[in-house]
Amino acid sequence: MSQQLEKVKELIALREKARIGGGEKAIEKQHAQGKYTARERINMLLDEGSFEEFDMFVTHRCHNFGMESKSFLGDGVVTGYGTIAGRLVYVFAQDFTVIGGSLSETLAMKICKVMDQAMKVGAPIIGLNDSGGARIQEGVNALAGYAEIFQRNILASGVIPQISAILGPCAGGAVYSPALTDFTIMTEGTSYMFLTGPSVVKQVLGEEVTQEQLGGASVHASKSGVAHFACPNEDEAIATIRDLMSYLPQNNMEEPNFLPTNDPIDRCEDALNEIIPDSPNAPYDMYEVIGSIVDDGKFLEVHKDYAKNIIVGFARFGGTAVGIVANQPKVIAGVLDINSSRKGARFVRFCDAFNIPLVTLVDVPGFLPGTQQEYGGIILHGAKLLYAYGEATVPKVTVSLRKSYGGSHIVMSCKQLRGDINYAWPTANIAVMGADGAVSVLYAKDLKAVEDPEQKKALAEAKKKEYDDLFCNPYNAAKYGYIDDVIEPRNTRFRIIRALELLANKKLVNPAKKHDNLPL
Ligand code: HXC
Repeated sequence: MSQQLEKVKELIALREKARIGGGEKAIEKQHAQGKYTARERINMLLDEGSFEEFDMFVTHRCHNFGMESKSFLGDGVVTGYGTIAGRLVYVFAQDFTVIGGSLSETLAMKICKVMDQAMKVGAPIIGLNDSGGARIQEGVNALAGYAEIFQRNILASGVIPQISAILGPCAGGAVYSPALTDFTIMTEGTSYMFLTGPSVVKQVLGEEVTQEQLGGASVHASKSGVAHFACPNEDEAIATIRDLMSYLPQNNMEEPNFLPTNDPIDRCEDALNEIIPDSPNAPYDMYEVIGSIVDDGKFLEVHKDYAKNIIVGFARFGGTAVGIVANQPKVIAGVLDINSSRKGARFVRFCDAFNIPLVTLVDVPGFLPGTQQEYGGIILHGAKLLYAYGEATVPKVTVSLRKSYGGSHIVMSCKQLRGDINYAWPTANIAVMGADGAVSVLYAKDLKAVEDPEQKKALAEAKKKEYDDLFCNPYNAAKYGYIDDVIEPRNTRFRIIRALELLANKKLVNPAKKHDNLPL
């Protein structure tokens, strides 16, 4: 055998060794827990055969606690690039089979390398997290490694899409990298995120809590809002990443993603002409509206289980990817509260950062009143949504379906917040408040003066009708040009697509500044 061939064989053997990560036993343990290995995950995520790996031969440099004898090729993370539906992405997957995927100085350097390259070429970065946190034996070097990653997350924010999947443990300060990225996907039963684990919680607060109760997928998807998606298993989590990617541009300089569709742009939906109930307090399902107007009824909902009174997610109109924000009358009447304002604001800002047009469907009775909301800072949180819409320069198409009252009317992408095309259905009520509230304020003295309950009721009804006729319709707002047109509900899809086509070349630039001061 020639010397060259021997060297080639040595390379092949080293590669084999690296591919086995922490060894067969550790892989078996990983599988027994219902988890895939780092390389299996990457193969599922990327187009077949597209993965090119970097830094397979990197090893850690630690000599503390006998670590020199515990060294693995690749050092606990698999990094590189490949494609999803033919489009370039960078990826890192922590390998739990190697020292629990714990983060060493060199492991962090590997992650930083792919982050830097992703920024250089303007491609998304996807992190598959499964790690015991900072490698304890490396002390401050591990902490420094985390900080290097966080810094890159911050600089990449709004430049390239950053997606984090949590497929195992993610504890301590390690949670901050996913929190700094755009979307976090968790798996139910096998992943968790918390700053301090159950034992510290017990020590400090005397509270008994399991890992799942403290930071499982359902907790973060429904209570904290830290996770945007909770998936029953890894297969679905990875499919969700691929689906999500289909709506996103490669970077902040690209146009919104386009996929040709066979769904006719002039498809009318007669059912929408009868979807609004006669009673103003009766609910209907906003998902039905969304499903009937978007291409092929396909909607990728973000934050599905969190603050359900507002719906946000991605869909397409005539092939163009858009972000949809819609009040949900079925959940606490679609009122805006702290959580729904935060959820909406974060989504609007993501879309604006990545040139994704916004379609807003409005049916909102107002902001939720009460001490709980006021003490929690609804003023600041509501201002976030207001701010997000007001600063957004992407095409903004708004359709008011029914209620659009007071401050919440303004917040939900009204004309004066630079809404480009604002349509209303004939059922829209665009006013300072609903008739009940208005009459109780305007005619409080008159109503008090009437003793007979029947007469009181008749007076209230008469005044309500007067108010309704004057204000509770779309025409009063249309009279002033605050609404561009009152449209037939069945034509909503067509009208939105026409509006988006019109706005495709929209150019709007905000004043130069170092950065804004969003009310945090
Ligand atoms: C070094 C670690 C490690 C770590 C796990 N391992 N975490 N080694 N540093 N942080 C090693 C284990 O010693 C073990 O090695 C192997 O990885 C697999 O771990 P197991 O414990 O056998 O796995 P499992 O039973 O599934 O438990 C997983 C775990 C547990 C719950 C994550 O390993 C654990 O509690 N790890 C420590 C978590 C932690 O406190 N991390 C520091 C957080 S603070 P062997 O040789 O036995 O196979 C932090 C600060 C970040 O991260 C700050 C950023 C700003």
